[in-house]
Amino acid sequence: WAVHAPYVARINELKKERGAVILAHNYQTPDIFYGVADITGDSLGLARDAARVDADVIVQCGVHFMAETSKILAPEKTVLLPDMDAGCSLAEGITGADVRLLKERYPGVPVVVYVNTSAEVKAEADICCTSSNAVEVVESLGVDRVIFAPDKYLGQWVASQTDVEIILYEGSCEVHERFTGAEIETYRRQHPGVYVLAHPECPQDVLKAADYVGSTGHMIKHLDETPAKQVVMITECSMSDNVASEHPEKEFIRPCNLCPHMQRITLPKILAALENMAPEVTVPEKVIAGARDSLQRMLDVGR
Ligand code: 13P
Ligand code: SF4
Repeated sequence: WAVHAPYVARINELKKERGAVILAHNYQTPDIFYGVADITGDSLGLARDAARVDADVIVQCGVHFMAETSKILAPEKTVLLPDMDAGCSLAEGITGADVRLLKERYPGVPVVVYVNTSAEVKAEADICCTSSNAVEVVESLGVDRVIFAPDKYLGQWVASQTDVEIILYEGSCEVHERFTGAEIETYRRQHPGVYVLAHPECPQDVLKAADYVGSTGHMIKHLDETPAKQVVMITECSMSDNVASEHPEKEFIRPCNLCPHMQRITLPKILAALENMAPEVTVPEKVIAGARDSLQRMLDVGR
């Protein structure tokens, strides 16, 4: 903490002067998560909070698509992203033109896009979803089949939970695709009785081997309900660091796959963003309207 303390103090001071709130994703490191964040959560929670938070400035501690989502839902606010290179392999794997091609290939079939996409992709889609509400969103459309993009693993997970036919796209998360079912079996051998929670961006053999599958927010909530003494969270490893301090009664086995994009956000960059009021995320007006419709339809479905 000695290294972080001066940054934490200055950021918290400057945040008040600027009328800013800091929204931090569950994957942010503990110095950010506990030191300077005003609101923490999963993608869906942060999207909801961006729309209702009472502040002129949002500092998004997360990746670019999350900052864009905040801007789309709160266009009157200034949205700062401390490092503009904080991307996401899923968002980079699909463009608006790809969605148009999908629509030509499957005329009349609704397109559901994961929130881990650019504003342009959201604007081309019919509705967005996050890993918290993907099944509900797909079922809310009342159709026999949907196109689901870009995460093939989340799409496969949704397909296993619903009778709606899912047309998949070839995208994946560079962090979660590295986990394997064999790894889970090893944890079970080494720690008999361990409770395994996994994010649905993981491959199917991982999800089949897990005790619980859910978004980052749902995993955190589920931890409160499980009496297991030893747990392993198959997701980005900063999250275990964050939740471990709230569950001293549990032992966390920590496989470590870090998201290089999330890790780009640091205290010095947050301070610089507040000092310079930059870098600022903007979305062209004509894209905002379409992207907002897709996000709003998702928010109307609920969690
Ligand atoms: P959540 O919606 O579960 O927070 O996931 C976001 C994400 O990027 C997972 O890799
Ligand atoms: Fe994107 Fe994967 Fe990083 Fe989440 S963990 S932001 S899906 S690259």
